[in-house]
Amino acid sequence: MSSDQQVVSLCDAYKDYFPIGAAVSSRCIHTHRDLLLRHFCSVTATNEMKFSSIHPDEGSYQFVLADSIVEFAEANDMLIRGHTLVWHQQTPERVFIDSDGASASRDLLLSRMRDHIETVVSRYKGRVYCWDVVNEAIDDKGSDYLRPSKWLQIIGPDYIEKAFEYAHAVDPDALLFYNDYNAVAPYKREKIMRLITELQQKGIPIHGIGLQGHWNIYWPSVDEIRYALDDYARLGLTIQITELDLSVFAYGDTRIDLTEPTSEMMELQAKRYEELFRLFREYKGVISGVTFWGIADDVTWLHNFPVRGRRDWPLLFDCEHQPKESFYRVARF
Ligand code: GLA
Repeated sequence: MSSDQQVVSLCDAYKDYFPIGAAVSSRCIHTHRDLLLRHFCSVTATNEMKFSSIHPDEGSYQFVLADSIVEFAEANDMLIRGHTLVWHQQTPERVFIDSDGASASRDLLLSRMRDHIETVVSRYKGRVYCWDVVNEAIDDKGSDYLRPSKWLQIIGPDYIEKAFEYAHAVDPDALLFYNDYNAVAPYKREKIMRLITELQQKGIPIHGIGLQGHWNIYWPSVDEIRYALDDYARLGLTIQITELDLSVFAYGDTRIDLTEPTSEMMELQAKRYEELFRLFREYKGVISGVTFWGIADDVTWLHNFPVRGRRDWPLLFDCEHQPKESFYRVARF
């Protein structure tokens, strides 16, 4: 295929299905501007709206970088997904400590959480259309239910419902999501189903579930994802794939010697992307957005993670910002 100019826009291809989004940084809205404007109609700030970025010190909010992403999106008629209000990572330690250096009390931490949510959600009210209110609250271990984060240890399990209530009170029109990884794996799916069911039984305002979609070219199977979509759809919430990327490495593969992906890897990735988007299109009634965690393979969190010194090639565009075979299999159907 020739130049990008002759390539169909992803967003146009999916206009009858769901918006296609990308996680962006305040830098890549410049460095990846052409790709973004051509193919994506929704953005998520990769880090700029997280607690430690937007609220690094007590009483001090830093909105400049998040604002630049919001303004870029608005200037180009793009949707904005807010990410994320309450998470166990990228939250300053000081949030959990009182002025004497001791652990914060439940009341103090709740009031800090409330202040954070109210300030951030109200700043972007009517501009951010949905929020990942709570991120990754479920534990990975066996039958353990909630992750033993500081939020849980200090406030108790109701920190989750409080977060949704505070966000809803400020912006009743925003769609509020619970977001997690490995959300299609049966061990985790059952716990997420339990959490959402409990929230719904208490009348907590929760509207969506975010399946992060940090997957690879071997896992999970399409059937496993289908099963999860069916299960979550029964809860009556909208579903979004919020952080999609397909690593070319299987779990446990620690090779670091590749300087470019093999043709087998790229073919398998293209086949997987094709199958996944066929499934997503089939579920367009319940899926209301698909967001990639990045734009092109030159910038991805998977360089160096989970294996230091290793590169990865998980997205639809290559390091030169050209469409990969994976792109064509998603865009042409
Ligand atoms: C999680 C978070 C994201 C991001 C990725 C890794 O999935 O939700 O914000 O930090 O990890 O980049």
